[in-house]
Amino acid sequence: MTLAAMHDGQQITTIEGLERDGQLHPVQQAFIDRDGFQCGFCTCGQIMSAVAMIEEAKAGWPSAATTDVTRPFTVADLSAAEIRERMSGNLCRCSCYPNIVDAVAEVTRRS
Ligand code: FES
Repeated sequence: MTLAAMHDGQQITTIEGLERDGQLHPVQQAFIDRDGFQCGFCTCGQIMSAVAMIEEAKAGWPSAATTDVTRPFTVADLSAAEIRERMSGNLCRCSCYPNIVDAVAEVTRRS
């Protein structure tokens, strides 16, 4: 997450920029399949965070929940605890977190 004003002049992908050729991004589809919806603000943020978080995991970035930082991190290491830690910046009191974790886990299993 970042302040938009800090990225003046830079390219920014929004939720509308995820689909390709009329096909939803796999994370968008997984949120539909797993009923991971929150309000119109939170759903977009959760999906964008999930997309970025999966890319970070693919790049081998560990998180505060990573138990062994001495070996390269892989997408297969994205446990529910890892997903929750990496998505922890998205706060809401309206629940649905279990379905969001399920949606992200489903995408990582297919990656
Ligand atoms: Fe958006 Fe709770 S779902 S504030």
